[in-house]
Amino acid sequence: MEAHEIFEHDVLIIGAGGAGLRAAIEASSTGLKVGLVCKSMLGKAHTVMAEGGIAAALANVDERDNWKVHFSDTMRGGHYINNWRMAQIHAKEAPDRVRELEAWGAVFDRTKDGRILQRNFGGHKYPRLAHVGDRTGLEMIRTLQDHGIHQGIDVHMEVTVVHLLKDGDRISGAVAYDRERGRFRVFHAKAVVLATGGIGRAFRITSNSWEYTGDGHALAYNAGADLIDMEFIQFHPTGMIWPPSVRGILVTEGVRGEGGILLNNKGERFLFGNIPDNYKAQTAADAEEGWRYVLGDKDAHRPPELLTRDHVARCIVQEIKEGRGSPHGGVFLDIAWIKEKLGNAEEHIKRKLPSMYHQFKQLAGLDITREPMEVGPTTHYVMGGVLVEADTQMSTVPGLFACGECGAGINGANRLGGNSLSDLLVLGQRAGQYAAKFAKDKGDTRVDEEEIDAAKREALAPFDRPVPDAGNAYQIQYELQDAMQDLVGIVRNGEEMERALVKIGELKEKAQKVGAVGNREYNPGWHTVLDLGNLLTVSEAVARSALERKESRGAQFRVDYPEKSEEWGKYNVTVRRGPDGSMQINRIPILEMPAELREIITQMG
Ligand code: FUM
Repeated sequence: MEAHEIFEHDVLIIGAGGAGLRAAIEASSTGLKVGLVCKSMLGKAHTVMAEGGIAAALANVDERDNWKVHFSDTMRGGHYINNWRMAQIHAKEAPDRVRELEAWGAVFDRTKDGRILQRNFGGHKYPRLAHVGDRTGLEMIRTLQDHGIHQGIDVHMEVTVVHLLKDGDRISGAVAYDRERGRFRVFHAKAVVLATGGIGRAFRITSNSWEYTGDGHALAYNAGADLIDMEFIQFHPTGMIWPPSVRGILVTEGVRGEGGILLNNKGERFLFGNIPDNYKAQTAADAEEGWRYVLGDKDAHRPPELLTRDHVARCIVQEIKEGRGSPHGGVFLDIAWIKEKLGNAEEHIKRKLPSMYHQFKQLAGLDITREPMEVGPTTHYVMGGVLVEADTQMSTVPGLFACGECGAGINGANRLGGNSLSDLLVLGQRAGQYAAKFAKDKGDTRVDEEEIDAAKREALAPFDRPVPDAGNAYQIQYELQDAMQDLVGIVRNGEEMERALVKIGELKEKAQKVGAVGNREYNPGWHTVLDLGNLLTVSEAVARSALERKESRGAQFRVDYPEKSEEWGKYNVTVRRGPDGSMQINRIPILEMPAELREIITQMG
């Protein structure tokens, strides 16, 4: 085996979006040597796709807000199978994390009296999303990057991790390759934090860019950690659908937060006819009341466009299926209508939603200040991920931590918009803190040269395979994306998911045979073969977990089990790699919630 470069870190963070950066800042503030690995360039992360804001009960716009309401909203949004302790920590600590971000230089929009401005978002009872126009995630990354870079964190850009090393049960580092030269790097570490984001590239229509192939999920699974809640995929209700080249690009929920309405081809606000019982008391009775809410009338209720994402996405699919969709197979999202109310809509929209204005102007030739957009659901986020302990974010493998989209538990069956940005700050900070503590308390680890060589051999194996035998890696990826989109998508049934599993099995066999040509420098064909293994693992986890959960809840809707079941409300589904390498599926009982938190939920209504 060829030589590799060795890097020594106390804490290694894999993934450099918001969660990874926040974890790295925290770990390095303890004086430890911290490495931060990004698959792409620093700053290019799915965090920027959380455009509309950071959910935190600052109570700057509505003084009735507090952590208890935020906690209660998060649990209700997740259909009560969330890890309540994580939801509690998140709701309590989010305001401090936002103020800290402000102190580090984030330039938020302001209330008239100079405080951080907050906007409405789906499922949040009060205006709660601290924002920077519709570029909040971008501002967050910029701020964290600026802050982190001055702390002496070692950044490894364009590096992909292929294997986690272990010393007995404990994590001891990682094997990676650099995209530019295709050479190996070995990281020795006392603790590792996974913050690699999601799995969106397992689906055909997605807001996720090429990096999001479930790397952290698969690395953890292969290292023996449990994954939890993998059946719950968030289809954001509003992605672009036209022209075809931009299909899936996110249209922020901030559009609806600022008064945007969803219409079918008959001009009807179809959500008024589709309000779930548990949101009836908080939803406006008509358009007038909904508009008064948007304007800040505290006696009014929320417009139905601000119902939770799982529900809104399903209602959109129903409109399309029943023939009331838009010309290109979506529905209409209209923000231009507010000119009837405000007179000066153009200036207002350009100020509040500058990215959306430019996105539609440049990519679709459409002026959103004058015309409605065409939108449809897009795969945006996975609620499932590495099972971690709530307070420390440590997985079931000692020394392995996970946070952000890659960690799981807080969101249950459905995430509220904006909770991802606050989650990655709150739980990213904790992951960094406890990974550093673990590294200090437990000390040095040993790496096994045999294990390193085996990982390198496996990564290079595609170069020894005859390419034409199994088609090419891109083809397999497309087939997988089609199968997941069509058979394990927004509306599911058992028979289709069984077919998806057969397909995944066939694709796994093909992927074992698929080869790579050319040399190792910037070889995307080779990288795609390696990513495929992760995509297949996470896709199988999604399909198996979804089959196991025989009910409809949150983001999982099954036509063969259309009701929510009381029995299934007692469990989370987990997957683990069995000793023979097969995927084992389990149910674990939901942790019992303390009486005082149950009482909060009852009081908040
Ligand atoms: O619609 C959005 O701006 C996305 C936010 C989020 O996913 O949290």
